[in-house]
Amino acid sequence: MPEEEPIFDPEHRPTKLGTEFITKFYRLLKGTTIYDQNNVIIDRLVQECVQVINNIIQSEGNLFFKIVRDNFFLNNIRIIVSADNFPIFKAFWQDMRKRWIGEVEFSEEVNADHLKDFIYLLSGLEENNESNYLYVKKQLEYRSIESIEVGKLEFYKDEEIYIDSEEQKKYSKEVYFKSIGLVKEIVDGIHQQKALNIRKAKRLMQNAVNLIMQDDSTLLGLANIKNYDEYTFNHSVNVAIYAIALGQRIGIPQKHLSHLGMAGLFHDMGKTRIPKEILNKTGKLLPEEWAIMRSHPVIGTELIMRMKEWGELSTRMIEGAFEHHLRYDLTGYPRLTRKRKISLFGRIIAIADFYDALVRPRAYNRFPYVSEKILEIMIERSGKDFDPAVVKVFINMIGIFPLGTLVLLNTNEMGIVTQIQEEAELIDRPKVCLIYYGDGEYRKGKAVDLREMDEATKNFKRSIVKTLDPNEYNINVVEFLM
Ligand SMILES: [Fe+2]
Ligand SMILES: [Fe+2]
Repeated sequence: MPEEEPIFDPEHRPTKLGTEFITKFYRLLKGTTIYDQNNVIIDRLVQECVQVINNIIQSEGNLFFKIVRDNFFLNNIRIIVSADNFPIFKAFWQDMRKRWIGEVEFSEEVNADHLKDFIYLLSGLEENNESNYLYVKKQLEYRSIESIEVGKLEFYKDEEIYIDSEEQKKYSKEVYFKSIGLVKEIVDGIHQQKALNIRKAKRLMQNAVNLIMQDDSTLLGLANIKNYDEYTFNHSVNVAIYAIALGQRIGIPQKHLSHLGMAGLFHDMGKTRIPKEILNKTGKLLPEEWAIMRSHPVIGTELIMRMKEWGELSTRMIEGAFEHHLRYDLTGYPRLTRKRKISLFGRIIAIADFYDALVRPRAYNRFPYVSEKILEIMIERSGKDFDPAVVKVFINMIGIFPLGTLVLLNTNEMGIVTQIQEEAELIDRPKVCLIYYGDGEYRKGKAVDLREMDEATKNFKRSIVKTLDPNEYNINVVEFLM
């Protein structure tokens, strides 16, 4: 193996650093509303904040903080908000929103005087003035503070939709469907012995990685919607998306994530050599048909080995193709003559493949399992079939109510799951877009966060009662998710 295996990173560095920053910064901002500039408590809060900022700059080179809708990013990586920190993040978000400031950047180490000037500038801003950021910029310039930059919070005024986020969704769709087109093209190309367009595949996977690193909800949502017709092509793209999103959460470095995506995209390449009658058979496969079916990992590996175009990628692609039906305990197929450890990429793709293959209807699996059931199976087989650490992260990512699930709430409202919480304990408290019936059809209502508590009763405002079948209600989930 040419490269070291990435390490599992339960700490998620951007989250740790970003949370430290927001906590101190918010405390300081609050402090300015109580104390004046010469107060000793302010000096202490400034000192603490300087320390955190400069620590981040020393280790990361830069501190760029950004709010996108209600997500927080440190140096363009999303900060995972834990239940403990949710109140602080929310309060901070409200404070920044009032001031229309959505970006703060420290490009070099900051000193206490500059930070103090800056925080009082922020604190003194008018409410609801969209041009606040320009005022801050001018003031910073006037005071020759060059290391601090601010940017506007970009909302559509009444709808609270972030422009970039809409663009991101549009772009995500484009990447998703282009990838499907590419897989089609490649499958046809293989039949006609044409060379693969590997550069295009790499580019698409790099785009997918960038999108997922910003916000994985749209691409995961697309992968979760199981009502497309052409299973084979979608399957490859979905596996790639699940794998990238999973890899990102495990802490695989960005440059390896697109390789992981490629390995996912081509994991079933061997199936292009399996006769269609077997591949699409509706009934049960005969033993000899199974034997042929089971040869696809080896065929895929051979196809990859024969192609020079892969270059350095080749090892990764082989891991995906050869290992995806091998189990964690090394049973499964192809049967190994020499026992060896399954690579991390292989373990990730095996999980993504299993989930996507079961959760949808297909030729010999006419009724799709519901996601809950599959996740249950995965937990049960964790440690035998699947790497237990990766399963845990996967389940957290998919949530027991995956993106796009239609749910009934205890308030008798209906909604569609639009974002999963990253904290394991909050897996049943996703963000939901409410829908209501009006003028003869279902319409998009407001977005709610099921983590929200009722101040008076100290209970959650809304909880999920059960999942509903969108087909029964004639609801096209895609429209609400996008
Ligand atoms: Fe397969
Ligand atoms: Fe597969």
